[in-house]
Amino acid sequence: MIAVLDYGSQYCHLVARRIRALGVYAEIFQNTATAADLRKRKVEGIILSGGPRSVYENDAPTIDKGIFSLGVPVLGVCYGHQLLAHVLGGKVVPSSKEYGKEILTVTGKSKLLQSIGKKEQVWMSHGDSVVSLPQGFTVSGRTSECKIAAYVDEKRRIYGVQFHPEVQHTTHGMKILEDFLRICGSKRNYTIKGLDKKLVAEIRAKVGSGAVIMGVSGGVDSLVASTLIKVATPNIYCVFVDHGIIRKGEAAYVKELYEKLGFGHYFYADASQIFYTRLKGITDPEEKRRIIGKTFIEVFEAKVKELKAKHGEIKFLGQGTIYPDRIESAKASKAAAVIKTHHNVGGLPAKMKLKLVEPLKDLYKDEVRELGTMIGLPKEALMRHPFPGPGLAVRIVGEITAERIGIVQEADFIFTDELKKSGQYDKIWQAFAALLPVKAVGVMGDSRSYGYIITLRAVTSVDGMTADWAKIPNEVLERAASRIVKNVRGVTRVLYDITQKPPATIEYE
Ligand code: XMP
Repeated sequence: MIAVLDYGSQYCHLVARRIRALGVYAEIFQNTATAADLRKRKVEGIILSGGPRSVYENDAPTIDKGIFSLGVPVLGVCYGHQLLAHVLGGKVVPSSKEYGKEILTVTGKSKLLQSIGKKEQVWMSHGDSVVSLPQGFTVSGRTSECKIAAYVDEKRRIYGVQFHPEVQHTTHGMKILEDFLRICGSKRNYTIKGLDKKLVAEIRAKVGSGAVIMGVSGGVDSLVASTLIKVATPNIYCVFVDHGIIRKGEAAYVKELYEKLGFGHYFYADASQIFYTRLKGITDPEEKRRIIGKTFIEVFEAKVKELKAKHGEIKFLGQGTIYPDRIESAKASKAAAVIKTHHNVGGLPAKMKLKLVEPLKDLYKDEVRELGTMIGLPKEALMRHPFPGPGLAVRIVGEITAERIGIVQEADFIFTDELKKSGQYDKIWQAFAALLPVKAVGVMGDSRSYGYIITLRAVTSVDGMTADWAKIPNEVLERAASRIVKNVRGVTRVLYDITQKPPATIEYE
């Protein structure tokens, strides 16, 4: 196993995901992990992620120096590169910023860079630089602005790269990571083949004949998790809470899907009225999320009470939590800044005294999709784009009203339909329509119209932590835009969002 120490970079998960894709299991560790922690887990190599801080600040995250005595290779990326140099006796100072694509020139021998060309495109994002190296280190690469863009101490097997090998824009980043795995002597045999049987056996051992309740959303994660639980026990009760701020036709779609898949106990809770009432007049994004999270729990709890009264004791709560969900919430209190309060039902079990069943908790999204295919779930359901817990509430900027929900639902339906028809849908991580609470003038027939602006967002991504706007063919965008303006009453304009994450987020609120 490779340990990735988390210094708060948005790309931390990407590093782990790339290592797994190369056939070696990787896990994220907090940057406070000690040498003893890592020895216990028998790690074969350690990667220090990037991060937003500066190593010379007083309270900046650091590293247990005992780690250097473990005898396993260490690779520092960005902040990690600076941190290794800093703690081992080199110097890091504020420098001119490099952001984006740069050319790396390999200037010295390094096993880490042996498989790449002499000049390579790499992706940089830093405002500090290493300006002098600790004893035993030599420079192995530079860019025009950064004199020490890569270094090595081959004897101690310590490597640093100022750029990000894990991102796509570093053309041969995977070769660098492969070389690191070679240096670590890791066997590339990690696969999720056969994992379905192991997970089912684990669920069975945990729940026995006890009943499991689970909130399902129609999304990939809860679908795969609930199906694994169903294979393990027929005693699963699925509840779909409809907060009324969901996609057009979603409630009917999910009901049909679960019935088709043979779930014996599927329950629908229509709670839209209570959500609408509580959200009336609320415009602050965090307030919206809080109200939705709290109300969701209330409705779900009431449903569980009702089911318990009818069907007897329920001891377990099934959840579709995946690896980035767990680690993101852990990170929020540590090095990474809190960007949004994510709504999920993580607060439920403590209050309800239910034991958690989370079969997907160590997997990434694409691994979940692969697992879903292994257990025979339909491709169409597995390829659905992620949909946030607060639903369209975070896609209607400002107040949520019945009119605005209707507009977003229709516009979103049309955009999705055009993406599916043109074969674009499966190439995209997430696509949707959002509503901006400003009005613009248009002309319809011979008269002046005055209506909302719809913004279309489509992004490519590996894990939702970082994202690029999708380069959809113009004709597809044009068809979607003209259909929306023609068919959705109250809309006069359609925009396409071309911001990346970071600096923007995927959702609007
Ligand atoms: P952002 O907008 O933070 O979104 O770039 C990243 C990914 O997370 C999803 N998202 C959420 N999912 N509850 C969820 O279950 C939430 O509150 C929430 N907010 C954002 C978003 O759709 C994207 O895939």
